[in-house]
Formats: sequence, C-alpha cells, structure tokens
Amino acid sequence: MKLLVLGAMGRTGQLLVRQALDQGHRVKAIVRTPSKLTIQHDNLKVVKANIFSADNLREHFSEQDAIMSCLGFPISIFSEVTGYTESIKAITLAMHEAKVTRIIAMTSWCTKRETLKEASWTIRWLLIPLIRKLLINMQEMENYLNNECQDLKWTVVRPPGLQNAPKTG
Ligand SMILES: NC(=O)c1ccc[n+]([C@@H]2O[C@H](COP(=O)([O-])OP(=O)(O)OC[C@H]3O[C@@H](n4cnc5c(N)ncnc54)[C@H](OP(=O)(O)O)[C@@H]3O)[C@@H](O)[C@H]2O)c1
Repeated sequence: MKLLVLGAMGRTGQLLVRQALDQGHRVKAIVRTPSKLTIQHDNLKVVKANIFSADNLREHFSEQDAIMSCLGFPISIFSEVTGYTESIKAITLAMHEAKVTRIIAMTSWCTKRETLKEASWTIRWLLIPLIRKLLINMQEMENYLNNECQDLKWTVVRPPGLQNAPKTG
C-alpha cells in the first residue's frame, strides 16, 4: 500500500515508518525538518509540508491509500492546545480534495471521561490534571472526526503510556 505518515519524526512515527517499510509498504513521511529523519529506504520518500495547510498537504496526499497521523503537540500553561483540531481540519480537507478516504490517527487513553474509572489514583489525580489541555483537544479532534467526517473511514488509536520498548505484538 501507499501510506502517508504525519509526525514521522516522533517516537511513534519513526517506529510506524520502520514497521511499514519492513512490511513492504511504500511510505511518504511528512516532516518539518527532513534532515532529522535518519531512516533511509528505497520505498521511503521524505517531504516537508505544513500540517495546518490543506493547500500544502493536498499535493502530497494524492494517490495515497491511507493517511496515518502520529502527530503530538506540547502543553503550554499560557494557552490551550489546538494542534489536534487545527491539523485534522487541514488533513481531512486535503483528503477530500485528493480523494483519499482512509485515516488512522492517535489520541490517548482517557479522552473519554468514563474510561477514567479504570485508572489508578495516581493517574486520575496527578497525571490527568497535568495533561488535561491535551486530552481536551484530542477529544475535540475525535468529535470532529465523528461528527464532520462521516464520509471518511477513520480510526482513532488511544494508547495508554507508550514504553519505547521492543514490540510485544
Ligand atoms: N508517548 C506516550 O506515552 C503517549 C501515550 C498516549 C498517547 N500519546 C499520543 O500519541 C501521539 C504520538 O506520541 P509520540 O510520543 O510519538 O509523540 P512525539 O514523539 O512528541 O512526536 C510528535 C510528532 O508530531 C510532530 N509535530 C508536532 N508539531 C508539529 C508541527 N507543528 N508541524 C509538523 N509536525 C509537528 C513532531 O515533529 P518534530 O519531530 O518536527 O517536532 C513529531 O514528529 C501524540 O499525540 C501523543 O500525545 C502518546
């Protein structure tokens, strides 16, 4: 398949690119700084693009089978997190224009409040308050996909803590 990976420089993105190449897929990686991506492969094309611009993304999305986003954004004490919603609007607009219908994106465990019941005291009262702004914007992105993108085939992956350890399968 032809897979386009956003956030390909990140911890998850680099592993996704590597696994996709190992499985024989052709990968286009969208990054901010192409020279930082150290993976080299005949089936890997690295391009620089603005993830907040549908105009910019459209040309790269053309003829891709699926878009996979491992984008992540920093938390600031001074402002709300908006990267997830701002990027998904540009990404899905570019998908419509390029006639790509499949997207897989990452958010996190605990974007749904009811899942917090399963979390430990430490997670509920120490970690969640620290990352609440992130979780709010992740959930807004999930809502956007759910409410505004019913013509797309989308999947949201909600991992708990990622360990940067060898894969377990
Ligand atoms: N790590 C965990 O334990 C964990 C657990 C649950 C959920 N998650 C979520 O899963 C996702 C991936 O996690 P991760 O740990 O792999 O994230 P990460 O290492 O922080 O990587 C984030 C990626 O997003 C890219 N990015 C951020 N802002 C960008 C911008 N303005 N333009 C272009 N690219 C931009 C970064 O590019 P640069 O390299 O250029 O900065 C990087 O490639 C995130 O949404 C994270 O919140 C992570």
